[in-house]
Amino acid sequence: MATIPLQPTTTWQLPNWQGRDFLDFADHSAIDLQDLLTLAIDLKEKQKQGIPFRPLAGKTLGMIFEKASTRTRVSFEVAMYQLGGHALFLSSSDTQLGRGEPIPDTAQVLSRYVDGLMIRTFGHEIVTELAQYASIPVINGLTDLHHPCQVLADILTLWEKKGTLKGLTVTYIGDGNNMANSWLVAAPKFGINLRIATPPGYECDAAVVEQANNLAAQHGTSILLTHDPVEAVQGTDMIYTDVWASMGQEQEQQERMNHFAAYQVNEELVKHAKPDYLFMHCLPAHRGEEVSAGVIDGPNSVIFDEAENRLHVQKAILVATMAP
Ligand code: CP
Ligand code: NVA
Repeated sequence: MATIPLQPTTTWQLPNWQGRDFLDFADHSAIDLQDLLTLAIDLKEKQKQGIPFRPLAGKTLGMIFEKASTRTRVSFEVAMYQLGGHALFLSSSDTQLGRGEPIPDTAQVLSRYVDGLMIRTFGHEIVTELAQYASIPVINGLTDLHHPCQVLADILTLWEKKGTLKGLTVTYIGDGNNMANSWLVAAPKFGINLRIATPPGYECDAAVVEQANNLAAQHGTSILLTHDPVEAVQGTDMIYTDVWASMGQEQEQQERMNHFAAYQVNEELVKHAKPDYLFMHCLPAHRGEEVSAGVIDGPNSVIFDEAENRLHVQKAILVATMAP
């Protein structure tokens, strides 16, 4: 596996990414994903140095939201602005999508107006159908199955803090949801060993687990799936958690609180990790539920660097897929 150069790259045109969709890590090779991360590092450096970079002048990104968002909406809109382009917020409640216009029609119509589409929705098949009918790049801004933009930001943060990725161990504690699924397919491609502890009945998607096990064998990494949070956290480099009830599962909140009670990331659990472990959370977080305030607001937490990196990795995705 190639190591990511510590120096920012000067190459921003990535032929393997032009015109492509970004829906699921499984669709992209380890090398292509590492190129994307290198580009994100370069774009972050440019922005920090105040160097203007506007390869998307005249380009428009349509952003379809069928669920709420703070980070995804704001970071994509700011990303397009900084790259010289424009972003359009398209809420399903204000467009014909919310009144049942078919996805294939929506995809083909929007492809005549905009240069790229970002979508946050429920079923992953909605995103794949949109991508199938759109003639422009489609970016997955979260589905019930995957949240790849978030995990790419997490991986950039991990690389920045640890100086390497290969051989690190990441532990995810909690619901086997979109975050856990995206970590499963991403970790092997970056040489990261992954452990996931979920309560019984809340395991990750079985097809994604199978995909991940194959990738781990191919890339020489390990994956541990367990119901024991202490086993999962033992000597780990990073602990990750997410809400117990995701968007669309609000009615299960109470029932989940009971099933997940033993899976809180708190001061007692983190004692089993390396002393310099990092804590990450995609946010929004519920202090006192999946994580104690002491851990999320403590010295090992990097949640705001992680949130910032959404901007930088998404700029890389936009440049790589949409720039001429
Ligand atoms: N982490 C994340 O995707 O946040 P938003 O729901 O605020 O977009
Ligand atoms: N699992 C959470 C992630 C939010 C960014 C959800 O889908 O609601």
